[in-house]
Amino acid sequence: MKELKIGNVVLDNPVILAPMAGITNFAYRKMLKEFGCGLVVTEMISDHGLIYGNDETKNMLYTKDEKPLSIQLFGGDKESMVKATHILCDNYDFDILDLNMGCPVLKVVKGNSGSSWLKEDRQEELYDTVKAIVEASTKPVTVKIRIGWDESSITAIETCKILEKAGVSLIAVHGRTRSQFYSGSTNYEIIKKCKESVNIPVIANGDINSVDDAIRVLEYTGCDGIMIGRGALGNPNLIRQLVTYFKTGERVGESTLNEQVEYCKKHYNYLMELKGEFRATAEMRGLASHYFKGFEGAKAYRGRLSQCKSKNDFMSVMEEIIAQNK
Ligand SMILES: Cc1cc2nc3c(=O)[nH]c(=O)nc-3n(C[C@H](O)[C@H](O)[C@H](O)COP(=O)(O)O)c2cc1C
Repeated sequence: MKELKIGNVVLDNPVILAPMAGITNFAYRKMLKEFGCGLVVTEMISDHGLIYGNDETKNMLYTKDEKPLSIQLFGGDKESMVKATHILCDNYDFDILDLNMGCPVLKVVKGNSGSSWLKEDRQEELYDTVKAIVEASTKPVTVKIRIGWDESSITAIETCKILEKAGVSLIAVHGRTRSQFYSGSTNYEIIKKCKESVNIPVIANGDINSVDDAIRVLEYTGCDGIMIGRGALGNPNLIRQLVTYFKTGERVGESTLNEQVEYCKKHYNYLMELKGEFRATAEMRGLASHYFKGFEGAKAYRGRLSQCKSKNDFMSVMEEIIAQNK
C-alpha cells in the first residue's frame, strides 16, 4: 500500500486504532503499539476539561514513548476548541490533533460536540471553527466523522470538502449516521464517495474485523487506510494480522487460548501500572471477557472475571483458564 502521510508524520503502516472512550488509555495503546499499530489515538478529551485543568482530563493525557500519537479533542464551539488546542500544543508531547465530530452520545451532542457538527445548518460554523483550529495548532489536524446526522441528512461528502478546504490533513469516516449509533450496517458506499470527493487521505472505519474485511473495504472504497475499533477489543492479534498482511502479504493465524490469556494478563498489568490495582481490576472486570469470546467456557469465564476484586483473583482466573484447557 501507498505510504500514509499525515502532514509531516509518516506512518509505518495504514492500520489505525480507533479512539474509544474508557478503552484507548495509555495501557491499551501501549499494548496495541507492540502489535504493530501504525497510529494510536487517545480517548476523546474534553476542551472544557483542558481549559479548567480537570485532573481526570490530565490523567487521560498520560503518555510515554508513544510515537506517533494522536490526541482526540472534542468540543462544541470555536473559542473553547482553539483555547484547548493551544493548551495541548504548548504542554503535551504528541504528533497529531484529531477532532471528534462523530460521537453520537446524547450528553456530547447536547453540548454541540461530536456528531452535532455534521448537521446541515452548521456547515459555515464547521469551516470557520476547523480553520481556526488548524491555524492554532502546531500539529497536523485530522477529523473523525460519521456519514451524517440521520438517514435523511447524509452530509459526509459535503463535510469532507469543507474539512479539506479548512486545512485538515486526513479524515476518518465511520460509515454510520449519528442516529444509527452502533446498529445497522456500515455504509461503505458513502465512505467511497467521501474518498472520491477530496485529495487528502481518507480512512475507512466501521466493522473491519478481519484481514479479508480490510481487503474488501480498501478495494471497494479506495481509502488510504483503515481504522479498527471493536474488532481489536480482546483481539490485539487482529492488528498484527493486518499489519503483517499489508507489509508482507503473509497471513498470521488466529491466536490460541493460551496466547489470549497472555494478552489479557498484559493488558491487566499495563492498566495496573497506569491506574493502580483497584481501578485496573474494576476496568478489566468488563474488558477481560472480550479475550475469551468464542472459546469454549467463555460464559463461565465472564462470570468468574466479573467477580474479581484484586490482582490475585484476576490472575487465579487466568491460571484456571489455562489449567482447564491443558
Ligand atoms: C466503547 C466505545 C467508545 C468509543 N469512543 C469513541 C471516542 O472517544 N471517539 C471517537 O471518535 N469514537 C469513539 N468510538 C467509535 C469508534 O472509534 C469507532 O468509530 C466505532 O466503534 C466503529 O468502528 P469499529 O466497528 O471498528 O468498532 C467509540 C466506540 C466504542 C465502541
